Amino acid sequence: MIVAGNWKMFRGPDPRALVGLDAIVCPPYTRLADCVAAGLTTYAQNVHWESEGAFTGEISPPMLLELGVAGSLVGHSERRQLFGETDVGVARRAEAALSAGLSVIACVGETLEQREANETEDVLRRQITALPQDDRLVIAYEPVWAIGTGLSATPEMAQDAHAFIKSLLRVPVLYGGSVKPDNAAGLFAQPDVDGALVGGASLDVDSFRAICQAAASRS
Ligand code: PGA
Repeated sequence: MIVAGNWKMFRGPDPRALVGLDAIVCPPYTRLADCVAAGLTTYAQNVHWESEGAFTGEISPPMLLELGVAGSLVGHSERRQLFGETDVGVARRAEAALSAGLSVIACVGETLEQREANETEDVLRRQITALPQDDRLVIAYEPVWAIGTGLSATPEMAQDAHAFIKSLLRVPVLYGGSVKPDNAAGLFAQPDVDGALVGGASLDVDSFRAICQAAASRS
């Protein structure tokens, strides 16, 4: 079981409060060094495909490795929806990060409109088949309508989507979207849910710890 906390553009908790927790933290770039120094398994929230160059505002895989960062998220729905990232760009980011030696959690998921139009599997297929197969690649299934809304997918909905993703790519699949201490155990009880990518609840140390404990008691 893998639990990762995505702090998004929040300062986040004191990394020292998370020492000893079996989890990945994904703080904003400005806090990566603090998290690494505290001994946490630390991932960036995004990474560029080039090693260096005229790419204002981007950070490269070697830059993250130099800091002691172990991996990166790519393709978070906020990147896709608010910053125009595409399947092709997300795949390039994933491939470059993996070949540089970083681990990658690639996020996929459908919008409410797509789910209601019965397009969930088509969307997931398009997002997943763009990605490379790699031992250091993990997928996070994050239905866009469940992110930050308090409306988590039901365990059965998560299970169906995870089983479909695994039919396309043999990788661990985390669930993300309003994971909280009170719904984590139900999600983790599903056979194809291999952990969680936690947003809001990862900013509160007690909530994040409770979710990590739910994962540990399933594994
Ligand atoms: P949430 O965010 O847990 O606040 O819904 C999840 C995510 O965006 O990764």
